[in-house]
Amino acid sequence: MNDMTLPATRPANPRFSSGPCAKIPNYSLDMLADAPLGRSHRAAVGKAKLAEAIQLTREILGVPADYRIGIVPASDTGAVEMALWSLLGARPVEMLAWESFGEGWVTDVVKQLKLDAKVKVAPYGQIVDFTTVDFDSDVVFTWNGTTSGCRLPNGDAIPAERAGLTICDATSAAFAMELPWDKLDVTTFSWQKVLGGEGAHGMLILSPRAVERLESYTPAWPLPKIFRLTSKGKLIEGIFVGETINTPSMLANEDYLVALKWAQSIGGLRGLVARASANAQVVWDFCAQNPWLKNLAETPEIASTTSVCLKFDDARIKDPAAFAKAVAKRLEKAGVGLDLGAYRDAPAGLRIWCGSTVETSDVQALMPWIAHAFHAEIAAQ
Ligand SMILES: Cc1ncc(COP(=O)(O)O)c(C=O)c1O
Repeated sequence: MNDMTLPATRPANPRFSSGPCAKIPNYSLDMLADAPLGRSHRAAVGKAKLAEAIQLTREILGVPADYRIGIVPASDTGAVEMALWSLLGARPVEMLAWESFGEGWVTDVVKQLKLDAKVKVAPYGQIVDFTTVDFDSDVVFTWNGTTSGCRLPNGDAIPAERAGLTICDATSAAFAMELPWDKLDVTTFSWQKVLGGEGAHGMLILSPRAVERLESYTPAWPLPKIFRLTSKGKLIEGIFVGETINTPSMLANEDYLVALKWAQSIGGLRGLVARASANAQVVWDFCAQNPWLKNLAETPEIASTTSVCLKFDDARIKDPAAFAKAVAKRLEKAGVGLDLGAYRDAPAGLRIWCGSTVETSDVQALMPWIAHAFHAEIAAQ
């Protein structure tokens, strides 16, 4: 193929946004017909639907029976904030960050909670060296940096025996990557990421040690009702069986249930992980064949299989930021790749969501279009 001719095949679904992410294959609003709309979420039918979402989450992610899973307000941000504000302050804190969202949590803890935390930040393309971390402190980190495409390869460096809590924002990892539950005390994610659900609610998963902290420690600062996980020093157990703190969206919950059942139908976690890995591999192979496009992740073991972040590397490029934007714009205009520009705080480039709801054939079809847009922009400079 001449690089300047239009590729013959187009992605059937051009949605490559890193959140909200592509809906499950063959999605239709008709699938939500069983949502108990106009009913109380505290009625038996509503509570049963919320409890089912918790139960399916547990089954698919393999969350241990003695871990609590709660549906909370304000998406992943809500879940992370609840954890930070409810748990920190009892012990020394280490904050680890390697991209924008992780840095946001640092700001929260240092500037808002005003804790004297040890802050370790790695530049875009790298992650913090976990062998330098003191896990007798409480440690806060993001499993997969959505805006840098760099992830923890595994939890090996986290000791099973530790005095501190590990608080992990896993929103762009959960359902696409294996998470070692024995190494994670607090895990959060939102519905709108790997399963292509709706923005609305967050999931908060607590280990027994996290619950113990909640019941034995009261932070020095006030907690709004929306963050409160305990009452009179005891965990509010209802939150973890579907009695949400305030009103949830039953429509969004139904949508999550539909996605969870699809996940089961493709083999559960193993199927989900395989789909994301296959998608990312397509992009990695394309980079290997086209030296002008590089993974932002500096080493393959930390390269994300969901938010694959790429940078252009070609001496002919005069203004990298303008160039990357123009390529993304071309893909969007051609209707073959929507929302795949790099995050605003990240280095210039592309970010292609390869999470489990994305079809590998669509990633394959996108690649020649990237080549086409790249060469067209080089020529247009
Ligand atoms: C790592 C990470 N943390 C937090 C968020 C915020 O998520 P939400 O909008 O679901 O609160 C995002 C969103 O992209 C993210 O990627």
